[in-house]
Amino acid sequence: MSSDKVLVGVIGGSGLYNLGNLTLVKHVNPETPWGFPSSPIAISSLPSGALVAFVARHGTEHSISPSHIPVRANIAALKSLGVRTIIAFSAVGSLREEIRPGDFILPSQIIDRTKGIRPTTFFEGTGLVAHTGFSDPYSPKLAAWLEKAVVAALEAEGRGVKLHTSKTMVVMEGPHFSTRAESLMYRQWGGDLIGMTALPEAKLAREAEISFALIATATDYDAWRPHEAGVTAAEVFKILKQNADTSRHVAAHVIESLLASADEAILGEEAGSMQFSFMGPPA
Ligand code: ADE
Repeated sequence: MSSDKVLVGVIGGSGLYNLGNLTLVKHVNPETPWGFPSSPIAISSLPSGALVAFVARHGTEHSISPSHIPVRANIAALKSLGVRTIIAFSAVGSLREEIRPGDFILPSQIIDRTKGIRPTTFFEGTGLVAHTGFSDPYSPKLAAWLEKAVVAALEAEGRGVKLHTSKTMVVMEGPHFSTRAESLMYRQWGGDLIGMTALPEAKLAREAEISFALIATATDYDAWRPHEAGVTAAEVFKILKQNADTSRHVAAHVIESLLASADEAILGEEAGSMQFSFMGPPA
């Protein structure tokens, strides 16, 4: 499918600062009511000619900490380009033995440890109160479709990278990593993964009626394993490049097939979803 519309956006996390495997068409830097996005948005074309928008969540030089990412501007900027579906990538720690560094994961649930710290809504200061449905933080049809598409992309790459699905992600406030006690507690809570950036991104995408899914890429075992050294940035860094190369390959494959399918049930999964989010005074 070839179109000059940009229907799909990608948000890159630690290590993933570009989609350098695609053909760059141009950069745009839209100013939104919430400021500028983390990085100018790179519009690139896939082999079919279809376009994809990419924003580097931490900036292209990794200069923005998880607590200071202009998430509202990132989502609003993608929305202003016409993006209907976002596939985000995020480096995470593993809280489970079977999720090994280098593995990819499609989480289905989130435990929010950033509540009250980060701005989480576009409606702040508008006079409107939105109680947005968030029981399934990732768009279920998109996530189910992605499961097959990511497996196919990983098989095509041939590096043997494993995909885990239906996992629960703890989102913590950084920039420091967790203590051993916290890491053990998150396991008891049912957490399988831990990261610093999955929120408020998913909440804001939902408010913007953009279908949204996260592909998490494991870099380390966090701090819960007895007799093992705790996580360090250097350990995370070692595996980032390999994960980023695979992420670029996966992004190109899944977006090409998503756009080829032109599946309205997925691209438009969240369209109109906010209509039940507002409460007015009783009539
Ligand atoms: N991102 C990558 N590894 C992480 C960890 N162990 N904790 C939080 N965020 C992470």
